[in-house]
Amino acid sequence: MRLSLRFILPLVVVLGAIAYAVAPLVDDLTLKWFVRDLDIRTKLITAAVQEPLAEAMTADLSQRVRQQRIEATFSRLIQDERLFAIGYCDATGHFAYRTVTLPRDIACRAPGLPPEESGRVHHFAGGSLHVAMNPVVVDGTRVGELVIVHDMSFVERRSADTRKYIFWLFTGIGLVIALVTVVIAEISWRGWVAGMKALIRGQLLAQNPEPRARELKPLARDLEALVQDLQTERRLRDESQMSWVPETLRTILRQDLKGDEILIVSNREPYIHVRRGERLEVLRPASGLVTALEPVMRACSGTWIAHGAGDADREVVDARDHVRVPPENPSYQIRRVWLTKEEEAGYYYGFANEGLWPLCHIAHTRPVFRASDWEHYRAVNKRFADTVVSESRTPNPIVLVQDYHFALLPRMIREQLPEATIITFWHIPWPNPEAFGVCPWREELLAGLLGSSILGFHTQFHCNNFFDTVDRYLEARVDRETFTISYGGEPTEVHRYPISIEWPLKGLADQPPVPECRRAIRDALGLPADAKLGVGVDRLDYTKGILERFAAIERFLEMEPSWVGRLAFVQIAAPSRSSIDEYQSLDARVRAAAQRINDRFPSPGCKPIVLKIEHHDAERVYTYYRAADFCFVSSLHDGMNLVAKEFVATREDERGVLILSQFAGAARELPEALIVNPYDTEQCAAAVRDALAMPPDEQRARMRSMRGLLQEFNVYRWAGKMLLDAARMRNRRKLAGGRPAPAAASTARGT
Ligand code: G6P
Repeated sequence: MRLSLRFILPLVVVLGAIAYAVAPLVDDLTLKWFVRDLDIRTKLITAAVQEPLAEAMTADLSQRVRQQRIEATFSRLIQDERLFAIGYCDATGHFAYRTVTLPRDIACRAPGLPPEESGRVHHFAGGSLHVAMNPVVVDGTRVGELVIVHDMSFVERRSADTRKYIFWLFTGIGLVIALVTVVIAEISWRGWVAGMKALIRGQLLAQNPEPRARELKPLARDLEALVQDLQTERRLRDESQMSWVPETLRTILRQDLKGDEILIVSNREPYIHVRRGERLEVLRPASGLVTALEPVMRACSGTWIAHGAGDADREVVDARDHVRVPPENPSYQIRRVWLTKEEEAGYYYGFANEGLWPLCHIAHTRPVFRASDWEHYRAVNKRFADTVVSESRTPNPIVLVQDYHFALLPRMIREQLPEATIITFWHIPWPNPEAFGVCPWREELLAGLLGSSILGFHTQFHCNNFFDTVDRYLEARVDRETFTISYGGEPTEVHRYPISIEWPLKGLADQPPVPECRRAIRDALGLPADAKLGVGVDRLDYTKGILERFAAIERFLEMEPSWVGRLAFVQIAAPSRSSIDEYQSLDARVRAAAQRINDRFPSPGCKPIVLKIEHHDAERVYTYYRAADFCFVSSLHDGMNLVAKEFVATREDERGVLILSQFAGAARELPEALIVNPYDTEQCAAAVRDALAMPPDEQRARMRSMRGLLQEFNVYRWAGKMLLDAARMRNRRKLAGGRPAPAAASTARGT
């Protein structure tokens, strides 16, 4: 209906306007016709009047009687409603007889002029008159001219009628044309729309090789491509409007990346097989990287290449070192890479964890760099690069390289698979150029990373540090406007992608309600039912600020001794990298600190610090989070810290307080936490006091806001943004004929 109105109204208006423009032309024409009619009429009148006039003029009458008779004849004649006046001009060119109606400004013509072909139109204030002068001939001699004046007002009346008639005629024609056109258009439009819809749904081509709308067939592929491009474009532009769930990732892979191959490379594997006597157990390692990537991989399938570190890992792989996981519902495969003890010691413990780890974390632990470790690091990176190449079924896979264990890998892959899209994510902080500069192999590391197509960090601050470092140590073109670095070949885009957790957390649905979790944990720890509980969950790592956290609890109990026996702080610490001296020493110091504090504030039923240095399943950790009154994250330096986000995600009851270090990347996204400086013991102790005193309404308001953010900015969005950027890059490359395409002028980036 709206379509019809939209079509009919303009058409009618246009035709009306045409009619309006045409009317004056028609007027002109009809005037000419009427004048011609009047000319003929005057000739007839002249012929009819001529005889009685000649008689009267030649009769033997007095001048006065003659005048009366002739003028009476004239007056009878003008009884005709159209005839306005009659006069007679004599041979001298003056009116001899005239009706009184003859206007004074009509004069006789000069004598001797040839007769006029046609009358003239004479305009005056009251309207128009037709004035014709026809010769009067008596006995073959022209004796004068008869002036016959017709009233033309009837012409104007007729003309106005004609105009109206023409206008309505055109409008009517317009309406009829419009209606007929609309009916035909609607009928064929419906057919086309139905055809197009079918075509877009893929029915036309997929199910019906001989489509009904045959004329649509040539358009089919173009249209499908167009629709897909538009969808992709909209997704690329509109990612903030998307809802980020596993299916979103699958859609991106299917539509934007056209089902391209995905390979992930990390040192840590998502599932570790270990033997416990007769039993084979599967462990989920305590690793932020694994926490984030595992749900992504479950959604995307593909292959995850990682170091096979479990003592039973070899027992479960196939001939090509593959194992399908997750064990309960396999949806992707791990490709395990085997390392010798020496390789592991040099590459993993040595260069990665004694060198790069302390180098990048400003936690005041001195990095150690050994040439032999570097050699192993290089060799293992090469081994993984070769594995990527052998696993890849296509020349242009998307390879997601993870973390500081593989700084050299991107360039090594690039050398063998120049068309691959390599996305490297650096999960730990990137320090300032001075701090990074102490590494003897800084240039090689930077050059290796710049083999990536995209390089990601958690925060813009780390991206900026990276730009500064490259600027300082390499001859590279650093373009901060397009976030691009060009160094020997394909440019690398450097962006921030703040990592997150899955939402909702897997396994959360199986958790008992919060009051039950509270009861269960207090029972397990032997705490009074009303005891307040704080929780810390980390790998046993010196960057996590566990000792600083204990110092804060100690200071709090010092300030508020009434809490002794009413507050327990549970520290879950997963053993980590325990062959490294620094970690062994930390283990000892943490145990000693807990012991000392417990001795200082003795309370048999409720020790201030409950230290659990052992591996805990994710599900058990969630129960602790749900049982706690507050969670304390006091990292001295941390890329993101997913414990903070997990704690918030488990609290559907919108209760509990998060105390969060300002030096964790998460602090930038969760300002509703109580943000602290872990080096400031007084401030941290005050935060513990505030957490315990926080009214439920305030807890709820803060939690609700943080939960809203995590729901929106979940790990699917983190991975999806990188994949969409990869898709954009691959599209541009395709358009550039396979050559590396220049970076876009600037990309608007949200978190
Ligand atoms: C950090 C690193 C990860 C690592 C995890 C656990 O989160 O960024 O790459 O997997 O620690 O450490 P681990 O040495 O046990 O893998």
